[in-house]
Amino acid sequence: MKELTPEQIHENWVKLINLIKDTFSEEYPDNRREKLLNMYQYFEDRMCVAPASGREHFHYAHVGGYVEHVLHVVDCAVQLKELWEKNGATINFTDEELIFAAMHHDLGKVGDMDKDYYVPQESEWHRKNRGEIFNHNSELQYMTVIDRAIFLLNQFGIKMTEWEYVGLRLTDGLYEEANKSYYISYNKDWALKSNIAYILHQADSMATHIEYDEWKRGEEEEEVRVQGNVENIKKAVTMEETSDQLSQKSKDLFNELFGDK
Ligand SMILES: [Fe+2]
Repeated sequence: MKELTPEQIHENWVKLINLIKDTFSEEYPDNRREKLLNMYQYFEDRMCVAPASGREHFHYAHVGGYVEHVLHVVDCAVQLKELWEKNGATINFTDEELIFAAMHHDLGKVGDMDKDYYVPQESEWHRKNRGEIFNHNSELQYMTVIDRAIFLLNQFGIKMTEWEYVGLRLTDGLYEEANKSYYISYNKDWALKSNIAYILHQADSMATHIEYDEWKRGEEEEEVRVQGNVENIKKAVTMEETSDQLSQKSKDLFNELFGDK
């Protein structure tokens, strides 16, 4: 499974804070930039180590995965917006609105004001056999991730525009049952009046699938490494060698299996 070094976790955090400073204006509304920085400062210790999901085959279920995923979705959203625009789409929202919604679509995964959303899975069996790395914290009041995101922003007095709300609210696309009436409407007046939701949903989906691919490749590389070690053991036990040679080979194999990778 992917592991980030403390330096990488710190680097991602700095990138996130710089993104806030570079994107959000002090003017709109009531110095939102400062309120956002207050919120991020409040959650810093918990947010910078939070995972983006609980199971290893989902996406970025590792320490620091949340911030990494958010940065990834923002990056994909900005690229996709340009692609939509180049292909003739109407873009009736600003980059600030797009980045605000992308940046907070999973904010609920940080937890509530005091407690984490994900807690480490204590059972070794569940970690190994079911890939459950983190569990949902049973002490939290149930809320959807998006409801919790809006609740948390509200705690810090952070306002959002209508397009930011629509984008944030609909990022999960039709994976969220409650979004159906927004996406599927037979009344033309109720159709979405901005492409922000489609772009954000594509960005989240794209980032998530790429993160899965990254995990899968890591697993395959690990499998090849383990298989290589098994083959070496098989060879060693079938070789006719002097006891000195075997003793040296055992040491080499031990180092290969348990030494530094
Ligand atoms: Fe996401």
